[in-house]
Amino acid sequence: MKRLKYRVMVDDVLLDAFRHGVFDWYRVHGRALPWRMTRDPYAIVVSEIMLHQTTVMTVVPVYNAFMQTFPTVEALHAAPLEAVKTITDPLGYKVRGRWLKEIAAVVVERWKGEWPQTVEELMTLPGVGRYTAGAILSFAFGVDAPILDTNVRRVVGRYFGLNYRDTRAETEHRLWALAEAVVPPGQAVDFNQALMDFGAMVCTARKPACTVCPLYLQCQTGGAAEAPTTAAEAPARYQITRRRPADQASSIS
Ligand code: ADE
Repeated sequence: MKRLKYRVMVDDVLLDAFRHGVFDWYRVHGRALPWRMTRDPYAIVVSEIMLHQTTVMTVVPVYNAFMQTFPTVEALHAAPLEAVKTITDPLGYKVRGRWLKEIAAVVVERWKGEWPQTVEELMTLPGVGRYTAGAILSFAFGVDAPILDTNVRRVVGRYFGLNYRDTRAETEHRLWALAEAVVPPGQAVDFNQALMDFGAMVCTARKPACTVCPLYLQCQTGGAAEAPTTAAEAPARYQITRRRPADQASSIS
């Protein structure tokens, strides 16, 4: 398993309430999206590349068409770029077709069709950043890897009282460390998906549904999610500590 360079201590009561609140909500309200019905790393990669900067509802029909046309990484590798772009270009952000073709070439030719299971190797693929690498590891391989996209950052930041808009390196490390701490051991597949839906449907950027939020009582915003959280709060609240060198043999940040 990949370890972050930093870890953070989190209050057990806060952590438990967070895990249960998000999971219980997801079991009732979570979306049955097509890429959640599979553990195929190829399908997960296709979905995550399509979901970059694009809404779920826009992606679903395109993802379905793509998987029907190119059901395996080998089929994608054999296909002409133009045929791929015909499906992906209508999503906008037109570099995606080329990324997917380049990913297929690397996986088929260099890795002989076997997907790597380390953050470092996955991040060598075009279009795959740290979030996407974490998504592949957790959704396809069940690794307890953290993910931190804009939704997760907002949910975790608000609940634990960190300024999620702050992009300084130290705050990034803290948010990643929190995203790692919240994953219930062995349950990353569903919990990370749950976090994303929770951010998209309850703890939204504009007009968060605080009055019906299951995390209302413990949330550090006090149920007023738009109350500004100052960056200055972060250091006092969540000290991050560097993992010992032996622990971070394959660290990712
Ligand atoms: N946005 C990015 N990845 C997603 C996923 N797996 N489910 C829903 N929204 C997402």
